[in-house]
Amino acid sequence: MILVGELVDLPPGESVRVHGDVAIAVFNVDGELYAIDDTCSHQDASLSDGWLEGCAVECPLHAACFDLKTGMPSGPPAKKPVRTHAVTVEDGVIYVHETTRVEAPAQGAPAEEVV
Ligand code: FES
Repeated sequence: MILVGELVDLPPGESVRVHGDVAIAVFNVDGELYAIDDTCSHQDASLSDGWLEGCAVECPLHAACFDLKTGMPSGPPAKKPVRTHAVTVEDGVIYVHETTRVEAPAQGAPAEEVV
């Protein structure tokens, strides 16, 4: 569990970058909190520096959009999703529960689980 900070310091429309195993971007979309891997799956850009468009963020480098609920890109140049992470608020403090990558046996496609 990663401490993000006070909810009052992340108002709607804002984002913040925190560090777990990798950098994670946390967004406040009209009071709903979302967390995804901060680094774009296309190249090395910080999605927390991108622009919120509804429940998606537009990468600041080449404008790929990622759904904050699924991590899926809406189109090129990004082709791979970014991980999503659970977010909770306890006593006004935001926490991210980082999703770890677990290799699925035989199929070769990575699965994810929340720890
Ligand atoms: S670095 Fe994000 S779309 Fe290229």
